[in-house]
Amino acid sequence: MKKEIILSTKQLTKKYGDVMAVEQINLKVKKERIYGLLGRNGAGKTTTMKMILGLISISSGEIEIFGKPIKGNEKNIYTRIGSIIETPSFYSYLTGTENLEISSRLRGTIQKDSVKSALKKVGLPYKDKKPFASYSLGMKQRLGIANAILNDPEILILDEPTNGLDPVGIVEIRNLLHKLCHEQGKTIIISSHILSEISLLADDIGIIHHGHLLKEISMNELEEKNKKFIEIKVNSVSKATQLLENVMKCKNYSVTDKNCIEIYDETLDTKDIANCLVTHGVGLSSLYFKHETLEDYFTSLTGGEKFE
Ligand SMILES: Nc1ncnc2c1ncn2[C@@H]1O[C@H](COP(=O)(O)OP(=O)(O)O)[C@@H](O)[C@H]1O
Ligand SMILES: [Mg+2]
Repeated sequence: MKKEIILSTKQLTKKYGDVMAVEQINLKVKKERIYGLLGRNGAGKTTTMKMILGLISISSGEIEIFGKPIKGNEKNIYTRIGSIIETPSFYSYLTGTENLEISSRLRGTIQKDSVKSALKKVGLPYKDKKPFASYSLGMKQRLGIANAILNDPEILILDEPTNGLDPVGIVEIRNLLHKLCHEQGKTIIISSHILSEISLLADDIGIIHHGHLLKEISMNELEEKNKKFIEIKVNSVSKATQLLENVMKCKNYSVTDKNCIEIYDETLDTKDIANCLVTHGVGLSSLYFKHETLEDYFTSLTGGEKFE
C-alpha cells in the first residue's frame, strides 16, 4: 500500500561555523508510519529534528510538511506537531497533572479533558499526588510524550525518547509508540543510536552517518533485501560439497570456512540436507537459517565502518 508523504526535506543542510553537521538531506516520511532516524552519536539526528521544528535556522534546503513549505506556514504547521527534543523540563515539585495543566495553558490548549486524555494514553495517573521529582525515568519520559500529544498532533517528533531507560521502560515506550501510530494514526519520527531499538520499532528507516542520509528504506524491503541462506557446519567440507552437488543437485553454495558452508539454493529443505549428510556419514554440528542483520547492512553501507 502506497502511503502519502506527510513530511519531506530537500537538500537540508546545517553548518555550525565550519562544522558541516547535516548535508543535503532528503527525507521522506510517510503518513501514519513510524520513521526511525538511525545514526551514531554526532551523526546529525538532533540537528535535523531541530531544523524541522524551527528550533534552529537552516543553512540551506527546504522542508515541506502537510504538503506545504514550512516557510510562511509556521503557525499552521507547528500546532499540528508534537515533539520532545532533549530531556523535557518539568517542575519537580508539581505533579504530572499540574505540569501538563500549566503547559496546556501556556500553549492555549483549550480542549477540555486534553490533560486527562493525554495522561491516559501514556498510562499515567490523572490527579494523583506524586510530584514529578519522584517519578522514575520511564514515567518522566512518558510524561514528556503526554506533553507532546496534548494538542492531539498529527506528527510526533521524538529525539531519542528511550535514552537512559531500563529494558522494561524501553518496552513500555515502544508499545506506547506502536499504539499511537498504528491505532491512533499518528505519524512518528523517532531518532536513536541503538540499532535493535529501531529495528523493533520502525516501519521505515533513514540511516544517517556523518551528516549524510545514506539510505532510506522500509523494514520490509530491508528484510527482503538481506539475503537469507542456510549455514551448515560439518566435519568434512569436501565430503559435504560432493554430497550437495551429486545427491542434492545443488551448485549454489560457497565454502566460507574450513568447516562451514553457506547454501543459497532456496528450494532445498533443511531436513533433506541434514538427512543426506548424516546418512552418508558426514558429521553435522550445526545447521541454521541466517540473514544479514541491520548491523551488517549498516557496515556494508558505510564501506566497512561498524555501527558501534
Ligand atoms: N550548537 C552546535 N555548535 C557546533 N556544532 C554542533 C552544535 N550542535 C551540534 N554540533 C555538531 O553537529 C554534529 C551533529 O550533531 P547532532 O545533530 O547533535 O548529532 P546526533 O544527534 O546524531 O548525536 C556533531 O558533529 C556535533 O558536534
Ligand atoms: Mg542527538
